[in-house]
Amino acid sequence: MVNTHRKLILNIYCSAIILPQICTCSQFTSSSNDQYNENPGVFPVATNGEPFPWRELRLPTKVIPLHYDLFVHPNLTSLDFVASEKIEVLVRDTTQFIILHSHGLEIMNATLQSEEDLRYKKSGEKLTVLSYPAHQQIALLVPEKLMADLRYSVAIDFQAKLADGFEGFYKSTYRTLGGETRTIAVTDFEPTHARMAFPCFDEPLFKANFSIKIRRESRHIALSNMPKVKTIEREGGLLEDHFETTVKMSTYLVAYIVCDFASVSGTASSGVKVSIYASPDKWSQTHYALEASLKLLDFYENYFNIHYPLPKLDLVAIPDFESGAMENWGLVTYRETSLLFDPKTSSTSDKLWVTKVIAHELAHQWFGNLVTMEWWNDIWLNEGFATYMELISVNVTYPELQFGACLLNMLKDFLSEEKFKKGIIHYLKKFSYRNAKNDDLWSSLSNSCLESDFTSGGFCYSDSKTTSNTLTFLEENVEVKDIMTTWTRQKGIPLVVVEQEGRLLKLRQERFLNGVFRDDPEWGALQERYLWHIPVTYSTSSSNAIHRHLLTSKTDTLYLPEKTSWVKLNVDSNGYYIVHYEAHGWDQLIAVLNQNHTLLRPKDRIGLIHDAFQLVSAGRLTLDKALDLTHYLQHETSIPALLQGLDYLESFYHTMDRRNISDITENLKCYLLQYFKPVIDMQSWSDEGSVWDRRLRSSLLKLACYLNYAPCIRKATELFSQWMESSGKLNIPTDVLKIVYSVGAQTTEGWNYLLEQYGLSLSGAEKNKILYALSTSKHQEKLIKLIDLGMEGKVIKTQDLASLLYAIARNPKGQQLAWNFVKENWTHLLERFELSSFPMRIIISGTTSHFSSKDELQEVKLFFESLQTQGSYLEIFQIVLETISKNIKWLEKNLPSLRNWLLISI
Ligand code: BES
Ligand code: ZN
Repeated sequence: MVNTHRKLILNIYCSAIILPQICTCSQFTSSSNDQYNENPGVFPVATNGEPFPWRELRLPTKVIPLHYDLFVHPNLTSLDFVASEKIEVLVRDTTQFIILHSHGLEIMNATLQSEEDLRYKKSGEKLTVLSYPAHQQIALLVPEKLMADLRYSVAIDFQAKLADGFEGFYKSTYRTLGGETRTIAVTDFEPTHARMAFPCFDEPLFKANFSIKIRRESRHIALSNMPKVKTIEREGGLLEDHFETTVKMSTYLVAYIVCDFASVSGTASSGVKVSIYASPDKWSQTHYALEASLKLLDFYENYFNIHYPLPKLDLVAIPDFESGAMENWGLVTYRETSLLFDPKTSSTSDKLWVTKVIAHELAHQWFGNLVTMEWWNDIWLNEGFATYMELISVNVTYPELQFGACLLNMLKDFLSEEKFKKGIIHYLKKFSYRNAKNDDLWSSLSNSCLESDFTSGGFCYSDSKTTSNTLTFLEENVEVKDIMTTWTRQKGIPLVVVEQEGRLLKLRQERFLNGVFRDDPEWGALQERYLWHIPVTYSTSSSNAIHRHLLTSKTDTLYLPEKTSWVKLNVDSNGYYIVHYEAHGWDQLIAVLNQNHTLLRPKDRIGLIHDAFQLVSAGRLTLDKALDLTHYLQHETSIPALLQGLDYLESFYHTMDRRNISDITENLKCYLLQYFKPVIDMQSWSDEGSVWDRRLRSSLLKLACYLNYAPCIRKATELFSQWMESSGKLNIPTDVLKIVYSVGAQTTEGWNYLLEQYGLSLSGAEKNKILYALSTSKHQEKLIKLIDLGMEGKVIKTQDLASLLYAIARNPKGQQLAWNFVKENWTHLLERFELSSFPMRIIISGTTSHFSSKDELQEVKLFFESLQTQGSYLEIFQIVLETISKNIKWLEKNLPSLRNWLLISI
């Protein structure tokens, strides 16, 4: 279920991270003062009562790490670890202390050796360690000043418990087929949790080399970023694995795991060994991931024209994992459902998800790992880029899975694929093993000629090979940075309003405001000073040509080359903007769709449906006009376009059902069943067909059963009974599995049987489907039981609690229950998840953001206010309150037209 929340997760990346007041910095240029000596009076107080010599959240840059020698010995019985490290540091400026990050570690001893001490084997000098937990920092005070340009070695012995949650060095458990519970130890550091596992300079800018040693029992294996060089026997039958030294990298990418997992391996074309690890009983689900990761690694090595720099790449399915996946260099960790594919229970959508997550994390091996953002304020670029590469790589390696678009896609379309790619390669080569800001990427994209292009006579992007795009159309040297900063420094997206008047095409740009109407008093102020550089594209009824224009002013007028009956902007939906057609624009396009929808390209049809409903939310288009636009869907031949339309109609149904507006709910149900009956009846209960055929089947049959369509319920019930009779052995087609379980879960017998199977199943994909089905029950006591199990964390793991609450809140019979639960158990939830973690955000928004009445808004507001007075503040509170207000407004404005439109249409 985790992919359901992906959009939300991507939107909240930036606020997930503790940002200090000043977020900008350059590669160690600012040499900070020894604040301590200047004014010791104003310093924070360390735990022992002494002044702590550093008051900033960011570390000083006088001392930088070069190399870490890290030894870790976790004990999987006593659930703790002892460890030691030697950090080789370079002193850039004389100082009397070293500030490091450390969080929750017990430091037993810290010593310092100079290069001379090392040379003469002189033992280290003991250091005083001060701790300032509020900033998760420790200070090592040196007896004599450290001298500039000299290297020192800092040795630290420390220990801690394996963490309970999902961060730092934590424990995870799984159940074997035989019913035994086993424990493993695993790390997860991004953004700031390496400091929970070892004292370190835990900021992305402090890149260093790491030599890691792990001590373990012989029944376990140890994995880390690099391959193992040797294993040494230690006393008590213990073994110690020594790993090769890493390349220069940031702390958040360090990883190690002690487990008893099994693996499959293969070799990429470049010779890199790729392995997929999972708990032994899940080994049979690892093969698809191996096939996909080998293909994707080959693709990226070719595309970036840069070798993956490590000798091996491991992908590991972790039984307890908070997010979807993490790109640790050479040791990528995944939630089981993001990596494992079980042919018996994983659907085509599950396969798509696994492929996307692998593509995403492998893209990070270059974008993020090789070149890293200087500071977390640029993390959106890291994530945005990995998301963009999902699209490019999956389209190339698995063309049948094709999907999606984003801001970087618009830039690619503007520059041409070739220039875009060249710019990326330039950027990756120039900043390899270093850090960069997003401006550095924009400069690389503006000027992507490598020096080697000149020396080798290679071509640059202005040569004849370039394909048609806006940049060549403009025939001038455009600074990508000028364009991109209008997209990255301004909140929101633009709306392009277009009006055709004979051969004149009048363009106007505004800020698109969802939920704020033009006659609202705040509209004007919210528009002020917003201006984007928008690469506008359009096609017309009179030719297939794609016309291009860079809109840099508020208004502009273009001359159409010939007379034309309609114009469609944002060709193939490559642009990141909404389009509104004034005057007869929409009517003309609706007429085209009804006459012959194939005159418009499939992605343009998707874009029109999307924009029309967005414009309804912005009060610019009436709902009946947008609904009229969906009328042609009966004849739609492109499945993605049909799915887009269905999604909107279905979401209206859910809103009406949740609000219990029975007349509209009933009429909408009639309309949907009547209107889509031919295509629903055509669906088979099988796994046959292309990826898109299969996705359509899942969506349509899910809708049909949800709407209680008798033939659908009959078939699902029949399959469910057969499955129960076979004691869960019957293979149900994977694309309809969730539907069959959901129908089966409506009887007490079926629900209980499903819960039993949930406990036994070894497939994460199946468990997700069962849990969803269980959450659709109409019986409150069953939903309460699920929540209890989720809070207990045994049968339903804590990692699945957020998805569970989200699903229950989507059930009309569970929405109040889920919300009441969150209010009443807030402190218990905080014992399991950090306030700003992904799960907490999913829980908060998942149980509230569908509300659509004033009373509900008031109730949520009061609750958030009570949390704020206790000192908890999250940006998501504001987002949720705005969403509920928008929902209220949407209903006020559109309920009557929806009611009328249905009366006319059925
Ligand atoms: N690096 C992220 C995970 C992350 C981001 C952790 C920010 C902590 C802070 C990883 O690459 C990622 O994006 N994971 C996604 C899955 C992905 C396919 C979108 C996730 O976990 O949801
Ligand atoms: Zn990512």
